[in-house]
Amino acid sequence: MKKIFLFALAAGLTACATRTTTIEGLTFDPTVCTEKTLTMPNGESVVYDAYEDIYFVTNVEDSTYQTLNFYVPKGAGQDTPIFFRTYVGGFMAAAACEPNPHDATGRALKEGYVLCIPGARGWNSKVGETFTGRAPDSILDLKAAVRYLRHNDKVMPGDAEKIITDGTSAGGAMSSLLGSSGNSEIFEPYLQAMGAAPERDDIYAAVCYCPIVDLEHADVMYEWLYACTNTGVRGLNEDQIRVSEELKGMYADYQDSLGLKLPDGTPLTAENYTDYLKTFLIQSAQRALDEGYPMPRNIGVVRRRQTVTDIDMPAYLSYVAGTTSLKNPPAFDPMGVLSDFQSPENLLFGDSTGSAVNFTPYSCSCTGSQIDNALQERINMMNPMFHLDQQSDKAQHWYIRHGARDRDTAFQVPVNLATKLMNQGYEVDFALPWNRGHEGDYNLNDLFYWINSL
Ligand code: DHB
Repeated sequence: MKKIFLFALAAGLTACATRTTTIEGLTFDPTVCTEKTLTMPNGESVVYDAYEDIYFVTNVEDSTYQTLNFYVPKGAGQDTPIFFRTYVGGFMAAAACEPNPHDATGRALKEGYVLCIPGARGWNSKVGETFTGRAPDSILDLKAAVRYLRHNDKVMPGDAEKIITDGTSAGGAMSSLLGSSGNSEIFEPYLQAMGAAPERDDIYAAVCYCPIVDLEHADVMYEWLYACTNTGVRGLNEDQIRVSEELKGMYADYQDSLGLKLPDGTPLTAENYTDYLKTFLIQSAQRALDEGYPMPRNIGVVRRRQTVTDIDMPAYLSYVAGTTSLKNPPAFDPMGVLSDFQSPENLLFGDSTGSAVNFTPYSCSCTGSQIDNALQERINMMNPMFHLDQQSDKAQHWYIRHGARDRDTAFQVPVNLATKLMNQGYEVDFALPWNRGHEGDYNLNDLFYWINSL
């Protein structure tokens, strides 16, 4: 009811300079609650209390997305950890929604966890003619939701000091940002302006499925990995091959600049990267074999009887590239380089007029555009690799998964993220699960075994 009223108010204000609607306070009302039942895939019923459509900022710019839903299964108490699932995908807006028996939200309730499903603005959210969710707005909304839970921790069931975030793809990126940038001062002025609660926004653990991160370096990593397929299954034309080779040529310097280390302390470089990557792929293929999954002979998995001994990378990458087509170079910042195709990332870094922009030095040099300080700061805010080098309160526990045939971003992206976290001493459970593409919330037994063990 309140939401409908606010929506009408926001719509009525579209002709004014500001569309922001102010709501009073951020105090949780424990009396506005409905009992609901979720039927799990096995027929089991989970009964829970639902608290929905709760604004998490006082200056509401977009009433469709700046709310959270909060669910409390029977038996949960003040000490119960809170599973915090964002449905951001494609860097688009995601409204708060109800638990789903088929994903980690339903499973979390069944396991007895308190559940929060926050909404967030994204590149496509709009009020009137104004785009409301260009970078960094999605992460601001999610941080504001975390702050709301802390602000009301005494009156809300669940323990806001035990928030476990979860998301897939762009949502995995959001989860990694929540985990890497807790209480970072870079976000503070924005959160204050939104009327977020004056609280901490660090979290306890981050679950990241196929996080689409390190956007400004992802083009280079992608070409280094997949250029071996350019004239084969990828089928690039001459111009595309030239761009691919130029980007690939920038990889070694970038990888060196990260200063990452292998477990034995050896620097991780472009030279030893393939071997490092193979260790994860071999582990993944071995588990699949051990669990009895079929393993075709012609996809580059080298084995002796039931033991995986090597990965023939060109063959394996051609297999990955063949299961769903690769992105053309530049994969993330393509606008204006060889076509006018606008990626979600070009739009993410555009502004409230709906513009799209280039955000990498390579693509900017092709199109004659610039990365000014304001854009650079927004790029930084969206990158967990940046935050891991900054003053912030990081999550201590990380669960990162990227499918072994997911080609939405290069394997180095999640591998570098996991490695940087391990190098910095955080607890990281990382794998490239076999035969998984670009997807999330799978192998929930593994995930909840990990969460229950925290
Ligand atoms: C997502 C996928 C992409 O390939 C991408 O570039 C950005 C986001 C997604 O699924 O969220």
